[in-house]
Amino acid sequence: MSSSRFAVGKVSDFAENSMQAVTLGDQEILLIHQEGQFYALPNQCTHARYPLADGELLDGKVKCQYHGATYDLKTGKPTLPAVKKIRLFTTETDGDDLFVILQEA
Ligand code: FES
Repeated sequence: MSSSRFAVGKVSDFAENSMQAVTLGDQEILLIHQEGQFYALPNQCTHARYPLADGELLDGKVKCQYHGATYDLKTGKPTLPAVKKIRLFTTETDGDDLFVILQEA
């Protein structure tokens, strides 16, 4: 399995309790900053593949606005109608720089 490390910007560019879609290579990733932690996941609901960036950030979860599925930010576990977990990518900070590690499936 290979992985690539992408610089996505400065930690200070991402406000607390915010989410933002970024394109890394050929993937669209949703970056979330909550409670001092960064989370990175595909910007695509596993239910009907709509963008999660259109949804809502809840406490420890992101909610898809289309049919209401939520995903746990620590485990990727979904609620109905989604049944498939969402992938979670590793994030790293180095000083004020933020990185996402994308592993090939
Ligand atoms: S596309 Fe997200 S819940 Fe249906």
